[in-house]
Amino acid sequence: MNTSIPFISDRQVAQALDFASVATVLGEAFASLAAGGAAVHQRQRTDCRDLRLSTMGAVWAERGVAGVKVYPTVRGQFSFSILLFDLATNQPLAVLDGNEITRLRTAAITALVASKAGPLRPRKLAVFGAGLQGRAQAEALSGWFGFEEIALVDPAGDPAWAQTLAVQAGCPAAFTTPEAAVRGADIVVTATRSATPVFDGAWLSPGAFVAAMGISAPKGRELDDTTMDRAGRIILEWLPQSLAEAGEVVLWQGRTAAAPLVDLPQLYASDAPWRPEAPGITVFKSVGIGLADVAVAQLAVSRILQRAPALAGALP
Ligand SMILES: NC(=O)c1ccc[n+]([C@@H]2O[C@H](COP(=O)([O-])OP(=O)(O)OC[C@H]3O[C@@H](n4cnc5c(N)ncnc54)[C@H](O)[C@@H]3O)[C@@H](O)[C@H]2O)c1
Repeated sequence: MNTSIPFISDRQVAQALDFASVATVLGEAFASLAAGGAAVHQRQRTDCRDLRLSTMGAVWAERGVAGVKVYPTVRGQFSFSILLFDLATNQPLAVLDGNEITRLRTAAITALVASKAGPLRPRKLAVFGAGLQGRAQAEALSGWFGFEEIALVDPAGDPAWAQTLAVQAGCPAAFTTPEAAVRGADIVVTATRSATPVFDGAWLSPGAFVAAMGISAPKGRELDDTTMDRAGRIILEWLPQSLAEAGEVVLWQGRTAAAPLVDLPQLYASDAPWRPEAPGITVFKSVGIGLADVAVAQLAVSRILQRAPALAGALP
């Protein structure tokens, strides 16, 4: 029985990880899920009055770890923690703050999927929502691609952050209207708390890549039917959870049995290119799955152990 489980803080995670390494381990984890080396369970949510507890977890047998992310929702705010187990010893490996891991993995998955399924040389990025996730999305994508322009939409957005982003990205970045942001954008990201569509899909350029990261409940959506109707490919993380939670799919009036839905394990299981041959709009809808948290938590733990041998001594 382990009596001293190491605790890893958000600050330690932030020092140990970056978007690129997180994207790499996410690709490895989804490829492993496709090959049967990992398994994931659907998020469980328990509501009592206006309070909620959610859990999501995975076994990554190929890497010898299993874990669960657990978080309450209080007044709309999340507080994430992760418990990771070492399957070789069958002992707890670490308890981690999960806020930084969630921030990093949610932005990194967009960058990963956009790099494989989005336009080859995206010039304009549009981001809806400039809260925690929206800012992370803009920072991850601008670090990955060389944009010429970043358009931001958020009625509560901070212009000072837009200026900082412009310096980081090396291109203009400014708040604008929804229509001005979407028109001409190669990549459009929605990371708001809105439960209703945040732009008109008729404004999208042919060939645009749209990533919806916000609400993960079947009663709400950030993308409208026009966007979904126009999409030549709709990429989901993992069908069982996405079909239950993605309002974009559940509420889509025009959805048919022939809807072009595909999930990441299906894409990783195939040798076919992720970009469809015919030009068209690609949608990526993310709800977040436990395997992403477990994979990134393991990466964080392994890096922090390398840097802090004293902590390693406390580990099983
Ligand atoms: N897909 C995932 O894995 C994942 C992970 C974590 C969080 N999320 C979701 O991401 C969303 C954002 O989370 P957050 O922590 O950044 O929230 P946040 O409260 O920090 O930021 C949300 C921002 O969206 C803005 N906003 C609201 N409506 C808007 C609209 N119509 N157009 C433009 N901006 C609008 C708000 O002003 C706010 O600044 C939430 O819905 C959350 O559940 C998803």
